[in-house]
Amino acid sequence: MTTQQPAPLAQIGVVGMAVMGSNLARNFARHGYRVALYNRTAAKTDEVVAAHGDDGEFVPAHELAAFVASLERPRRVVIMVKAGGPTDAVIDELVPLLEDGDIVVDGGNSHFPDTIRREAALREKGLHFVGAGISGGEEGALNGPSIMPGGPAESYAALGPMLEEISAHVDGVPCCTHVGPDGAGHFVKMVHNGIEYADMQLIGEAYDLMRHALGAAPAELAQVFATWNQGDLDSFLIEITAEVLAQTDAATGKALVDVIVDQAGQKGTGRWTVQAALDLGVPVTGIAEATFARAVSSSVPQREAAKDLPGHAGTWEVADADAFVEDVRKALYASKVVAYSQGFDQIAAASAEHGWDIDRGAMARIWRGGCIIRAKFLDRITEAYERTPDLPLLIADAYFAEAVADGVAAWRRVVSAAALNGVPAPAFASSLAYYDALRADRLPAALIQAQRDFFGAHTYQRTDKPGTYHTLWSGDRSETQA
Ligand code: ATR
Repeated sequence: MTTQQPAPLAQIGVVGMAVMGSNLARNFARHGYRVALYNRTAAKTDEVVAAHGDDGEFVPAHELAAFVASLERPRRVVIMVKAGGPTDAVIDELVPLLEDGDIVVDGGNSHFPDTIRREAALREKGLHFVGAGISGGEEGALNGPSIMPGGPAESYAALGPMLEEISAHVDGVPCCTHVGPDGAGHFVKMVHNGIEYADMQLIGEAYDLMRHALGAAPAELAQVFATWNQGDLDSFLIEITAEVLAQTDAATGKALVDVIVDQAGQKGTGRWTVQAALDLGVPVTGIAEATFARAVSSSVPQREAAKDLPGHAGTWEVADADAFVEDVRKALYASKVVAYSQGFDQIAAASAEHGWDIDRGAMARIWRGGCIIRAKFLDRITEAYERTPDLPLLIADAYFAEAVADGVAAWRRVVSAAALNGVPAPAFASSLAYYDALRADRLPAALIQAQRDFFGAHTYQRTDKPGTYHTLWSGDRSETQA
């Protein structure tokens, strides 16, 4: 008599077989995990197994109940469907099938307040909910993304090692760590994307300034970016910029960048970052300028209406092209440090507000590989937060203070030349203004306080003694203590 062996259980399951979900499932399988697969439309699940069955062991299911039954306990289910309603729909269907201690991971680009809500709801039911930011696009999902998991620390014990294994590694260190409770992971992923907006805008401005100032062709500028990629600016975004600028359009023979419509799209994570920053009162001016710059580019009727407005700008003549390129490089680096500094301030503020206790140095470390903003200088950020874990301002860290100081004269030359020559450089200019505002001995905020007191009796504080004061503006203008 032969005993029927039960099929071995899967160690992890993925719901959602679109590109990100199937690539993540394949990544797990390639690391030797038995992976359960489910998609609302069963044909897609079958397609993944047919096309990529060689990657490892897959346990496909056509029913969600069968999928859940094929998982070992505690079950680990990674949801990779569209953010918003579809994610809630999948969770609602999944939850009744799960048992105490099972772990539900949302690997989509969910808005962090949704993650906080879902985590609380699942905790009530004895389930663990992990909102995990996953960056790196399709390529990253398959070959090693940067993973930012939030949720309860206990679930990280059962889940973290698997996520770390499939994440990107830099110097043998995984680009994945437990970020903090409930929405912390998706919050950090959101800010990552906001920083990505700023980084891309700054690179765009650097390119545009050099193009106007030097009359250089995209292919020549590709060389400049390729050279920059050998130094402090070494990063994925600089690298792909060089490649994009070198690309010729097959149909017209022109530079590809010149035949692409100049209206930047967005999926909304930059907007979320700025909205959250406004709520927290954190000035993320670089990210905001970048987000608005995309909106300006897409303001078609306004751009059309502005076409003939006068610029009164000079003709840009650069005496020393190499010196100008070096100025732009320094301005780019300094502005980039500001954008990251602001993003890390936002993470610190949210961490304090929500009690997330986020280690900012660890965030810089897990962004070194797999994700879009991966860059050499993230090591310097990690070191800065290791030196001073409660560092109040990244640009005040000794290393960055020196780097920015080295570039500040160049930064001023570039921003003023941009203004004089009528070329928009909003992210360069506002980063410099932010830097100067922080450095300023006195800000015109004193005048604003007086104005507020004048029209609204909002009161003010004095520099020379404690207390709250109000001037009787519509009376005899004497000062009273509030
Ligand atoms: P992509 O843009 O790469 O296709 P996506 O749109 O973010 O990816 O995600 C699509 C995935 O979400 C698909 O797996 C889709 O399932 P179907 O193949 O059945 O369309 C899944 N999805 C979308 N809405 C869903 C819902 N309400 N319930 C379950 N799965 C859903």
